[in-house]
Amino acid sequence: MKKEALMFDLPDDEILSLSKEHVFYTWSAQAKVNPIVAKRAKGVYFWDINDKRYLDFNSMMMCVNLGHGDERVIQAMQEQVAELPYAAPGMTTRIRALASRSVSEITPQKALSKVLFTLGGADANENAMKLARGYTGRHKILTRYRSYHGATAGAMAATGDPRRVAWEPNLMTGIVHFLDPYRYRSTFHRTNPNIPEKEFTQDYLNHLEEIILYEGPESVAAILMESVTGTNGIIIPPAGYMQGVRALCDKYGIVMIADEVMSGFGRTGKWFAIEHWGVVPDMITMAKGLTSAYAPLGAVAMKPEIAAAFDDTPFESGLTYTSHPVSLAAAVANINAMREDQIVEHTAGLGPVLKRMLTDLGEAHASVGEVRSIGLFGIVELVKDRTTKEPMAPWNQSSPAMAALRKYCLDHGLFLYTHWHTVLIIPPLIITEEQLKEGFEVLDRALEITDKEVKNEHG
Ligand SMILES: Cc1ncc(COP(=O)(O)O)c(C=O)c1O
Repeated sequence: MKKEALMFDLPDDEILSLSKEHVFYTWSAQAKVNPIVAKRAKGVYFWDINDKRYLDFNSMMMCVNLGHGDERVIQAMQEQVAELPYAAPGMTTRIRALASRSVSEITPQKALSKVLFTLGGADANENAMKLARGYTGRHKILTRYRSYHGATAGAMAATGDPRRVAWEPNLMTGIVHFLDPYRYRSTFHRTNPNIPEKEFTQDYLNHLEEIILYEGPESVAAILMESVTGTNGIIIPPAGYMQGVRALCDKYGIVMIADEVMSGFGRTGKWFAIEHWGVVPDMITMAKGLTSAYAPLGAVAMKPEIAAAFDDTPFESGLTYTSHPVSLAAAVANINAMREDQIVEHTAGLGPVLKRMLTDLGEAHASVGEVRSIGLFGIVELVKDRTTKEPMAPWNQSSPAMAALRKYCLDHGLFLYTHWHTVLIIPPLIITEEQLKEGFEVLDRALEITDKEVKNEHG
C-alpha cells in the first residue's frame, strides 16, 4: 500500500460525500456548492479524482504564479519542517532573516527595506492600515470602489465592491471610497469617451484631490489601491495616474499603499505592477504569488521611516503564526525559482501574445465589449450590446449565459474565473504560448453561447 494511503485513508469516491457532511465553504450558499474534487497538479494542469485534466487559467485562486508541483519549493518546505517547523513570533530564525531580505530586495529601488509577515492578503492590508495610522497619527483611509482588499473586518471595510456591502454596518470605520479611472465605463466621460489620456487621467486625479480636501487632508492617513485592479476588472491605470497619486500623497503627507496581492510577483511582467509607472509607494502589501500558494503567507514591505515610527512605541499587533518558518521557506524558494527560471521576463514576453489572442477573440465575437491585459493578467468584458455596453450579467450577479459559458469551459477541461459579466485570464506564469492557445480554443467556442445573447450585432 502507498504511504499516503496509510496516513490518510479515504477512498476517492467517498471524498465528496464526507465533504458534504462536514465542510463549511466560504463565499457560498452551502446547499449549492458543487466542488471539483481535486487530486493532483503539475505545471499548468490539475486533475480531479476521475483523472479529468483541467488547464488552470486562474492559477487556482490567482495565486499559483510559479505553477503546480515545483520540486524546489516542495523540498525547501520539507527541509524546513524537518529542522524547525515553528518558532515564536518574538524570535528570529535563519529563514526569517533570509525571507525578509529576499522580499525587500525585489521592492522598487529596494526602498521598502522592512518587512512584516502576515498570514495572507487581508491581514497584510489590515496591518498596513494600522502602520499608516500609527505613523501619521491620522485615521482616514481612502480606497477605491472597484477594489477588493480582503475579508477580515478592516480589509472588508477597505474593499469597495459589493462584498463589503454584504457586511455593513459592522465593519471598521474611517474608510472613504473614490472612483477608479475605468475608461470603458467612465462616469465622467459618457459623452466624451475619446478624451485624450492626459485629460482623462487629470479628471480622475482632480476627483481624488477634491475628496481629500472635503475629508480634510490632516485626517487622511493613507491611500490604499490595487496597482492594477484585479477581480473588479483588470483596470490598468492610465498614463500619469500613479505618478499623480504619488504627488497628491506627497503634497498632503499621506501614506501611499500599493495592494499587490494579486498584481505582484511577476503577474504583470514586473515583480510589482507599480514598477510600470516608476512609482515607489510607501508600503506594498502582498500574498498569493509570494509563495505561489505552496503555503499561506502575506507581507507588508515598508519604507524604513515607517518602521522607525515604532522604534520607541510598540506596534500593538501580531498573530501566533506570524513569520511561520515553513511558509517563509516556500517564499524564499519561490522567489529563487522565479529568478532562476526568469519567470518575470517570460511573463513580460508573453504579455503581447496574450493581448493579441484577446484582441482576436474580441474581433471574432459580437459579445465581447472590451478586452484588457497587462502581462498575464487579462479580462474579457462581455456585453449584450456594444453600443449601450449593457453587461452580459447585471451588477453583482451572474446570468444563465455566463453560467453556461463557465460550464462549457469546465466540461472541456478549462478552469477559469468568471466574475459577473467578465472572464478573467490569470494563468500560472510558466504557461507557454501553445498552452495559452489551447485554452483560447475552448474559450473561443464557449463564446458562441454569449454571442447568442447579443441584441445589436452592428454596435
Ligand atoms: C487585491 C487583493 N487584496 C487582498 C486580497 C485578500 O487576500 P487573502 O485572500 O489572502 O486574504 C485579495 C484576494 O483575492 C486581493 O485580490
